[in-house]
Amino acid sequence: MPVPSKSGTLDQKLETLGVQVKDQPTKHPKRPMHVAVVGATGVVGRETLAILKERAFPLATIKALASERSQGERVAFGDDELVVEAVRPESFAGVDLVFFAAGGGVSKVWAPRVAEAGGVSIDKSSSFRMDPDVPLVVPEVNGHALAGFAKKRIIATPNCSTIQMVQALAPLHRKAGVQRVVVCTYQAVSGAGRGGVDELERQVRDLFNLREPKIDTFDQRIAFNVLPRIPAKDPIPADGTTGEERKMIDETRKILEAPALRVGVTCVRVPVFNSHSEAVHVELAAPLSPEDARALFAAEPNLLVIDDPARGLYPTAEDASGEDKTLVGRVRVDASVPDGRGLAFWVVSDNLRTGAALNAVRIAEALCADWL
Ligand SMILES: NC(=O)c1ccc[n+]([C@@H]2O[C@H](COP(=O)([O-])OP(=O)(O)OC[C@H]3O[C@@H](n4cnc5c(N)ncnc54)[C@H](OP(=O)(O)O)[C@@H]3O)[C@@H](O)[C@H]2O)c1
Repeated sequence: MPVPSKSGTLDQKLETLGVQVKDQPTKHPKRPMHVAVVGATGVVGRETLAILKERAFPLATIKALASERSQGERVAFGDDELVVEAVRPESFAGVDLVFFAAGGGVSKVWAPRVAEAGGVSIDKSSSFRMDPDVPLVVPEVNGHALAGFAKKRIIATPNCSTIQMVQALAPLHRKAGVQRVVVCTYQAVSGAGRGGVDELERQVRDLFNLREPKIDTFDQRIAFNVLPRIPAKDPIPADGTTGEERKMIDETRKILEAPALRVGVTCVRVPVFNSHSEAVHVELAAPLSPEDARALFAAEPNLLVIDDPARGLYPTAEDASGEDKTLVGRVRVDASVPDGRGLAFWVVSDNLRTGAALNAVRIAEALCADWL
């Protein structure tokens, strides 16, 4: 089932606030590139193809790759269709750039083969994120880290929940030094892939038709429920921190180059089709007012501030879905931290776009324009 469309309230909110959305200039490679997308039949792979088309990424050739199961299937590429091929050793001959959106096991096997064939991999799985020889990049936050891509010819794109949080933390960190972060996430089912989207839709239908809902992708019912366990089926380690929570802690430290940063996380799956929301509390080294924080957020290339408490304006997951910007609101003092050094805010973003496919394409644009 495709992610349902939205109602257009974001435009109304932006108009009420008089917020202008500035499109960022797109960096383009100096020559058309030979590109492959592995996992082209999944939710992130399809979004990657859509974004390459939308942003007119210069392509010499484009291949849609997936498992043997999908050999011969067709996936949309703008108004055209691509025929899906199963990944094979010869798939990467002559390919400059490969987007991996097929899970960690697939990246682990094939990304080193891409490097041997002379290409560069942009990997959306967690397989290489904490490898010291692999840059973990959100281009507008730590684009300089791309310089290290040549060591393994692999660049990792962070976990979806991490990306939107570091986009907002980065300007605060530069200005006032983030010392501690406490975050609770409200993560959409599309974060669990097409199986997650299908399961919410199916369970809602079942419940309205008085049928027992089947549980498959998640470990308990997701319809009309919230599940504080991501990934749903991985064992929770002895320290009680789930895999998703561990990723947010480690990746935030790596991206912000702050190994001692104190990060506390609870990750929660909610019955929302698309876009992750996060309640973030930060402790800063220096005081920072909510007004100054809003101005810092508004100056960031990929953040939009929707924050007018008097008029009840704040961003929601529905607003963020299908958008390229990460939305920030509910910016306020966190009085549990003394001396005006505490801030709280709400940040929402499309996990399939900013959280995965768009960040990967932005990496490709920066890499091709500045490094390849
Ligand atoms: N969903 C998100 O919000 C999100 C955000 C950030 C990162 N990611 C990461 O992005 C990746 C893809 O996630 P998704 O949500 O798009 O999952 P998905 O919808 O379940 O899609 C999985 C894709 O992987 C392909 N695949 C599976 N096994 C394969 C194999 N052995 N060889 C080649 N292709 C294979 C599938 O192809 P078939 O159709 O042939 O099975 C399908 O195209 C994962 O690493 C995930 O962690 C996802």
